[in-house]
Amino acid sequence: MSQLLGDIAAVLIALSGVAVIVGVVLIRRGDRVRHPRAMLTATALAGLFLVFYLLKWGLYGTTRYAGPEEWRGAYYALLLSHTVLAAVNGPLVLWLLYNAFKGRFGVHKAWARWTVPVWLYVAATGWVIDQVLARYGESAGGIGF
Ligand code: HEM
Repeated sequence: MSQLLGDIAAVLIALSGVAVIVGVVLIRRGDRVRHPRAMLTATALAGLFLVFYLLKWGLYGTTRYAGPEEWRGAYYALLLSHTVLAAVNGPLVLWLLYNAFKGRFGVHKAWARWTVPVWLYVAATGWVIDQVLARYGESAGGIGF
């Protein structure tokens, strides 16, 4: 069940990355109607990801890496960069949405150039981390309810 929740979360975050790419393609084509729809879908998927991720964490605690030693450093570097950028991504997305809905598209555009790569990095690494833990993870217990 723990891995199932992790897999659902990983699919949701990967889909949010796909929706972001669709949103970028749409705005490049000048589609100001479907761009917001794609980006709001991406935001909803990322929010749902968070629900499943927190559910897994709350019910089963954290998962520890128990794979080959020579990959441990690379895994934790990936996990650290993913976690830090995921924390940064949340406020960036809210700021983007706020400026878009206020009609401040200049500010929106400027911040979007940073936020999109961060979002895509977080989505891709989230999926990779889930795949690694599916194979090499072991329960580390933790705060499980
Ligand atoms: C968090 C979600 C969003 C992301 C990641 C995002 C991302 C982007 C990106 C990458 C661009 C193109 C920047 C460039 O040309 O270099 C852009 C432009 C734009 N976005 Fe968004 N967007 C989001 C939500 C929205 C929403 C909700 C709206 C409308 C209410 C909106 C309206 C626009 C408009 C009108 C432009 C074109 C601005 C211009 O060319 O002057 N975006 N956005």
